Amino acid sequence: MARNARHEMLAQADADDVARQAFVVALKQGLNRSVRSRNEALYEAIVEPGLRVHAAGADPSREAIRDAMYAESSYRSWSALARGAQELMWDAVGAPIRRERDRLEASARRLASERRAGGSLELDPSFEPPRGVTAMDIHLQPGGYALDLGDGDIMAGALYEAGGNIYAFGQGIGRSDSKAAHVQRYIATRWPDFRPRRILDMGCSAGSASVPHALAFPDADVHAIDVGAGMLRYAHARAEALGARVHFHQRDCTATRFPDGHFDLVVSHNLMHESSDATRRGMLRETWRLLAPGGVFVHQDVPLRFAGLSEFRKFELSWDTRNNNEPFWEVYANADLATDLAAAGIPAGHTWIGHLPQAEGSLPWFAVAGSKPCE
Ligand SMILES: C[S@@+](CC[C@H](N)C(=O)[O-])C[C@H]1O[C@@H](n2cnc3c(N)ncnc32)[C@H](O)[C@@H]1O
Repeated sequence: MARNARHEMLAQADADDVARQAFVVALKQGLNRSVRSRNEALYEAIVEPGLRVHAAGADPSREAIRDAMYAESSYRSWSALARGAQELMWDAVGAPIRRERDRLEASARRLASERRAGGSLELDPSFEPPRGVTAMDIHLQPGGYALDLGDGDIMAGALYEAGGNIYAFGQGIGRSDSKAAHVQRYIATRWPDFRPRRILDMGCSAGSASVPHALAFPDADVHAIDVGAGMLRYAHARAEALGARVHFHQRDCTATRFPDGHFDLVVSHNLMHESSDATRRGMLRETWRLLAPGGVFVHQDVPLRFAGLSEFRKFELSWDTRNNNEPFWEVYANADLATDLAAAGIPAGHTWIGHLPQAEGSLPWFAVAGSKPCE
C-alpha cells in the first residue's frame, strides 16, 4: 500500500497548509539533493587542505573537521536552513491537526468503539516510557514520541504520520514506498512457504508498517507495540479506519511480557537507529525469546553504517545527532550488529545482514534478519 494512504484520521489540509507543505518538501529536496553535496566540495577544496597544513599532513580528526566546517559561513547557512526546514515541517503539518483536534479525537473514539476491523488497544496507565524516548523530542517532533495529553489524545500519532510523509518526500524516498512491502518481498523470496500465524511489530509508531503486514497476512494475529499512549491511540484508530485488524499494546520492546515462542514473525521498522545500545541488544534478545521454532525476524532500518567511511563522511552524516535530536544516530551507525545478534543467542548460520531495495529513491533500506531452527 502507498505510504500516504487516505483515511479518516488524517487532518484535512487547506490551501494554505498545502502550499506550506509543498514549500517544505521543495526546500528539503533542494537542501538534500543539490546543496548538501556542496559541503563535501567545500571540504575537499578549502577546509581539508588547511587542516592538513595545520596538522603537518596528518588525517584530520572528526572534531577538527567539525570545528573547521562550522567556521565556514556556507556550511553554517546550509545547516541552519536544514534545521529550519525541519522546524517548518512540524509547523506545516501541525496546523491542520491542531485545527481539527476535536474532530480527530472524536473519530478516534468512534473507530475504537466500533472496532470494525476487529483490532484492539491496550494502554497501561502505570507504564513509564523509557528515558531514551522522553529525554528529547526525537527529530524535533513537538512533544516527542511519548507525548500524552490525556484521555483520548492522538496528537503524537497524528504528527508522526503527517510529518513522516513530508520527511520521506523531502528525502526523496517517495510516495509509493512501503518499508513493510520490501520486508514482505524479502520474506516471500527467502521463505516462500512461510505463513505466519502471529506477528509482532516492535516500535510501531502510527502503525504505518503494522497495517500493511495485517493486510498482507489477513489470517494472522497481528500485534504491535510502542511506548507512547498518544501514538498508540492514533495507530489503533488509523488501523481500524484502514480495515486492518491489529492489536496495539503499550509495551517496551526489551521486555514485551508476551510468552516464550509466541510469534512466528517479529519485525521492526526504523526502530534500531532510535535505540541505545542497551535497548537494541535487549530488543534482539527479546526477539529470539519470542520466536517460535521455524519463526522469522526482520529488523529493517536506514542504511547508516560508519564502517569504512572517511572521517568527513562520518561528520557529515552525524548532522542529525547534533541538529535534529537523533541521540542514537551515531550509536546505530557504529553498532556491530553481527556481534549483537550473536550476543542475543542467535546462531550465525541463521542470520542475514544486508540491504533491501526502496521502491523510489536512491538509497536501499538496511535489515538484519534470521530464522529460528525448527525443533
Ligand atoms: C522511528 S519510529 C518507528 C516507525 C514505525 N515503525 C513505522 O514503520 O513508521 C520509532 C518508534 O519506536 C518507539 N520506541 C522507542 N523505544 C522503544 C521501546 N523501548 N519499546 C517500544 N517502542 C519503542 C518510539 O516511541 C517510536 O514510536
